[in-house]
Parts: sequence; structure tokens; C-alpha cells
Amino acid sequence: MQHANTSTPHSLAAIFSRRAIKSFDPVHIPPSLREQLLDAARLAPSSFNSQPYRLYWIESPAQRAIAAQLCMGQSPAATASALLVAVADIGSLHTTSQLQLQWMRQSGFPEEKLRDYDRTAKIGRLLFMPGPFGIFALVKWLLFRLLHLFKIAGMPPLTCSGIFKWATKSTALACQNLMIAAESLGLNTCPMEGFDGRRLSKFLGLSSRHHEIVMVIAIGKKSSAHECQPQWRRPLESTVTIL
Ligand SMILES: Cc1cc2nc3c(=O)[nH]c(=O)nc-3n(C[C@H](O)[C@H](O)[C@H](O)COP(=O)(O)O)c2cc1C
Repeated sequence: MQHANTSTPHSLAAIFSRRAIKSFDPVHIPPSLREQLLDAARLAPSSFNSQPYRLYWIESPAQRAIAAQLCMGQSPAATASALLVAVADIGSLHTTSQLQLQWMRQSGFPEEKLRDYDRTAKIGRLLFMPGPFGIFALVKWLLFRLLHLFKIAGMPPLTCSGIFKWATKSTALACQNLMIAAESLGLNTCPMEGFDGRRLSKFLGLSSRHHEIVMVIAIGKKSSAHECQPQWRRPLESTVTIL
């Protein structure tokens, strides 16, 4: 059996050098760079390719100052060139499937594939819907428990918080893609969950029914005065089980 090379290849450099940066020097992030970062984020994998998030890029100084304050004035937020607020958006499923259907039609997919996709998307939306007062949760639970008697099967998220948890996974992957892309392109980042969610949601005009802020990412150029603490991780054997 051949053994994989264990030295760090150049392609992993951004993963190995990324740190959570606490203080940034003022730099301008041009629109082309902003677009590259946002493109990298949306190329992340997502459950059923549903991309259940919306990314708010805040760059204007006035808006940034307000958002930084709502991140409790934390230094990464206060000194960043841009703040990205990653929002799990469970109200986007219908529009997303319509957009994908439109893209499939324009790309010349055969009618049969379009019908298949439309049917699957409709079932998916039903499964990922809490229903009024969460009443679908019980129906879904009963249906899937019954199915489990005969079949190995997963369980869709039942409650509203389960659906947000589902959307959060895909949102977090987009965030990580953006942070690695920033590192590769000479910028630095700090992910943050230290923010006033209620006030920040209000500032962005979000609805609590469909939206939940997953994290805020401060983006900029690491301050020349900033010194990172040594990076610590649990040893591999505390983190990994190999079967
Ligand atoms: C979900 C999440 C939330 C975080 N929230 C904050 C935060 O509010 N403020 C902060 O300064 N750092 C925050 N961090 C950064 C972590 O403290 C940092 O990633 C960790 O200490 C490891 O350091 P490293 O990323 O430099 O390896 C957060 C990181 C994650 C993943």
C-alpha cells in the first residue's frame, strides 16, 4: 500500500496559517476582492445544495461602526475593514428551488429531470417546514418512526430550532470557506459569536421566523502591532477516533 505524503503541501498553507485576529490595520477591500471572498463562501457545500443562508457584507464606515457596537465593541469588529454577518435563512428554500429550476431550464436539462427536481424540491420543502405552531413536527416524527420500523432512514429536522440547526451547518461551512479564501488572498479574519443577536437582527431588518445569525466575521489586514498567542489544539488522539 502506498503511503500519503505527510509534509504540508502548499495548497494547505491558508488552513495552517489562519488565526483569529484580534486587531486590524485600516485597509480598503476593493469590490473585486470582496466578490472573490463572497464567491468562495457560496461555493461551499450545502445540504441538498439549498444554500440556506444570506450573507450581509458591511463595509460603509457608518454601518460598520453600528455593527461593531452590536458586536459589543470587540476589537476585531471595531478595527475590521468589513464585517460579514452570516445568517441562516430558512425562508429562502422556495426561492432557491425556483432559481435552480430556472437555471436547469436555461441550461437545457431534459423535461424529465426538471419534473424530478421540482418534485424532490417540493417534498424537501415539506420536510423542512415546521408548519404553523410547529404542528408538522409531530406528524413528521410519527411518519419517520413508522418508517424506521421497516427501513434504515434518517430523520428530518422536526422543530423550528432543528431546522435552524440544519441551516446553521451549511452556513458555517460557507463561513469557513470565506475565512480560508481571505487568508489565501492576503487578508485575515476573526469569527465572532459575541454579539447582541436581537439588536443586530433588528439593525439588519431580519425576521425571527426565518433568520438566525450564525456568526459575524471581522475581515481586514492583521495589525502590524498584533501578536498572536501560540496556537493550541487538543492532541490528535483526543480529537479523533480511528476505527
Ligand atoms: C463560532 C466561533 C465564535 C467565536 N467568537 C469569538 C468572539 O466573539 N470574539 C473573539 O475574539 N474570537 C472569537 N472566536 C475565535 C476563537 O476564539 C478562536 O478561533 C480560537 O481561540 C482558536 O484560535 P485560532 O482561530 O487563532 O486558532 C470565535 C470562534 C468561533 C469558531
